Amino acid sequence: MNSLSRKFPYTRSRRLRSNQTIRDLVSENQIQVNKLIQPLFVSDTNKKNIDIKTMPGQKIFSKPGLFKELETLQKIGIGTVAIFPNLQSIKKNNFGDEALNPENFLCTILEQVKEKFPDLVLIADVALDPYTSSGHDGIVINGRVDNDLTLNSLAEMSLNLANSGADILAPSDMMDGRIGVIRESLEHEGHSNTILLSYAAKYASNFYGPFRDAVGSKQKKGISKRSYQMDYRNSKESLKEIELDINEGADIVMIKPAMVNQDIIKLVSDNYDIPVFAYQVSGEYTMLMNAIDKKIFDHNVIEEALMTLFRSGSASIITYFAKWFAQQYDKNN
Ligand code: PBG
Repeated sequence: MNSLSRKFPYTRSRRLRSNQTIRDLVSENQIQVNKLIQPLFVSDTNKKNIDIKTMPGQKIFSKPGLFKELETLQKIGIGTVAIFPNLQSIKKNNFGDEALNPENFLCTILEQVKEKFPDLVLIADVALDPYTSSGHDGIVINGRVDNDLTLNSLAEMSLNLANSGADILAPSDMMDGRIGVIRESLEHEGHSNTILLSYAAKYASNFYGPFRDAVGSKQKKGISKRSYQMDYRNSKESLKEIELDINEGADIVMIKPAMVNQDIIKLVSDNYDIPVFAYQVSGEYTMLMNAIDKKIFDHNVIEEALMTLFRSGSASIITYFAKWFAQQYDKNN
């Protein structure tokens, strides 16, 4: 025995990496298709599906296109979708009044989807941005997004969405007190089973750009969303936001964007016994897709990105890759 072998460690990490079967046995995380949520955009005017230029592979669906897509998604095992409306500008005003119309486009769609796909879990965003001419998530008064005036609208909008068949409401605007106000009005109106998925730590982010193309909510120059969405310099503040939302009646909390905030996902999931979801947002999707399209790296990067979000503590992920991932899984099994 030479001196080198005596000193050599008995612990060899590479033993457990020697082949795929062994790596699988000792792996700590897996991606399950039933943990992925597909966001979908639907237009109130277009007769055909339209490609979203800034989100390669994603579409703004026509109404019939949406129903076809839902059928496909359900077949490949996606059980939950988040549906966002893309509305013509005539439906928008400073107050986002159309959000309060109980028979608006999204409410009608949700009703019809629920009827055709009763088992599909439907998530609806609660925020005014598809409905305001400013593209802001709230009502602009004197150059400021007015918190409490916006809350009244959110409460009413939530009831409309719950009445239309949304299983999960996802308040995404970061107004103060919204979860409490929405929960109270839901309880009051007999919707005690509606789940609130709070975008609790939502950062004001450059990564939302492509989504705003898809929903048609690009803001005019002027006020930024930084006066209500979180400052990405902060992390402790996320704990404060999560705690408030839990106390106000949230069932699930969400961190967004996902890939650039894995420290926050970990922090929150380590500190609270509540499911934590992550939203891999439009810009994060586009960044990866552009590199894949340019063959800078291959599709394996998708699994890596999603896996690390689960590793950080995400219970489920809203991702534009949900369909793609489910299709691969379908092919391989
Ligand atoms: C709107 C909303 C946004 C996203 C989800 N809901 C954008 C925003 O706050 O401007 C972003 C999702 C994405 O980028 O994929 N309240």
